[in-house]
Amino acid sequence: MKEYVLAIDQGTTSSRAILFNRKGETVAVAQQEFKQYFPHDGWVEHDPEEIWESTLATCRKAMQEADVAATEIAGIGITNQRETTVVWERATGKPIYKAIVWQDRRTADTCEQLRRDGCEGVIVEKTGLLVDPYFSATKISWILDHVDGARARAEKGELAFGTIDTFLLWRLTGGAKHNTDATNASRTSLFNIKDQCWDSELLRLFNVPESVLPAVLDSCDDFGATAPELLGQAVPVYGIAGDQQAALIGQACFQPGMAKSTYGTGCFLILNTGEELVRSENRLLTTVAYRLNGKTTYAIEGSIFIAGATIQWLRDGLKLIDHAAESLKLAEETGANNGVYLVPAFTGLGAPFWDPHARGAIMGLTRDTGIAEVVTAGLQSVCYQTKDLVRAMRNDGATYKALRVDGGMVVNDWVVQFLADILNVPVDRPKVTETTALGVAYLVGLKVGWFETLDEIAELWACEKRFEPSMSPDIRERLYGGWLDSVERVRRSH
Ligand code: G3P
Repeated sequence: MKEYVLAIDQGTTSSRAILFNRKGETVAVAQQEFKQYFPHDGWVEHDPEEIWESTLATCRKAMQEADVAATEIAGIGITNQRETTVVWERATGKPIYKAIVWQDRRTADTCEQLRRDGCEGVIVEKTGLLVDPYFSATKISWILDHVDGARARAEKGELAFGTIDTFLLWRLTGGAKHNTDATNASRTSLFNIKDQCWDSELLRLFNVPESVLPAVLDSCDDFGATAPELLGQAVPVYGIAGDQQAALIGQACFQPGMAKSTYGTGCFLILNTGEELVRSENRLLTTVAYRLNGKTTYAIEGSIFIAGATIQWLRDGLKLIDHAAESLKLAEETGANNGVYLVPAFTGLGAPFWDPHARGAIMGLTRDTGIAEVVTAGLQSVCYQTKDLVRAMRNDGATYKALRVDGGMVVNDWVVQFLADILNVPVDRPKVTETTALGVAYLVGLKVGWFETLDEIAELWACEKRFEPSMSPDIRERLYGGWLDSVERVRRSH
């Protein structure tokens, strides 16, 4: 009997494999961190081989721990850090360069040139994105221009490009399938989100040959089957979605106007806009939420580059804490009102500022500032940045009654309460916070017929705790005003 779904969640700092049963309950989880490479200021790379090895190892480990054989798995779902770019040889499957990570800023000048050349309008119109190094297109072009002979080889059809889902699918299928889904394609800057196809004008503007591109399928589709030797027997891959879109599905935000915010390495607030392709006037992104049975559901998204990564930096970079969990106690002791602001613009600022040259700062230091205040300011920065996004969405006319949150950071009650306070809306934390993996598992469930409709999935969503706002308006305004002032100072200093 096929009773399980294997969800691969390939994130920015770790690879995870999670086995779910038919009810969406977690049966086993395996996780492996991998190395981050920072070769220059603003550059962020991963080794695609480490990504592949950690993914395969965690799949095998999860199956082993739960004593589940490949014959018992109905299908695999892949969800992934989006935009991160790999180019490999079709003949050998070997990457020709490291993966250039979504946070990487090396192509900021190329983006500026595109803007100077007057290309921004058409790019925004067709992709729903902005012109920013965040997205894959300029990263592909950079690899083709900086690896010896790569562009000529790409023109000859010898090279393949993929976001991480595509690279993993290629490896899982033993090089048989070069596919992606519409959510991942929508993050490349090469995909026309209205027409749902690769766009020749965009390919020309970004100087990317069509020959490197994968086929774009629905998020719930027949993506190919794993090479039998990898997991003991061939297992079909039935779901693929970028991690933030998968989280939207895992949070069951299927109705227009429903929103979720995920706190992983970065923070991504996504609001479902249904079949309507809503254009932001406040520098938010329009993106594909999911595509099912050929029907596209759209969303608007606010993307923040550094959220949980701030706490990782406080732990591993500054060594102010030993474990992320310590931050809760320090924040409880310090309180919100401590005058210190940490602007974590380590790789520039994302929405709504889109400033690739900004760099981080800690402000408001006094003689009595200590570790606790700096760590608390790190936690608060995540909430202030969410407020920046919510304000932009409000200015675009979007409203919602409550925000669903998930991701590693939301286990911290202090953070979620401060978030509710600073946003002044109720914040709902679901029972299952593994929403990213769960979302892609649901896609597989839809494909194999465990669920007939999205409504059936929505019924499974359950709130663990609602955090109601309780901060007085004057404190809220003063605190947030201080944040805006700090961001302004960071932006003026370059
Ligand atoms: O757009 C980047 C995003 O997909 C990365 O997500 O969870 O790895 O921070 P995460």
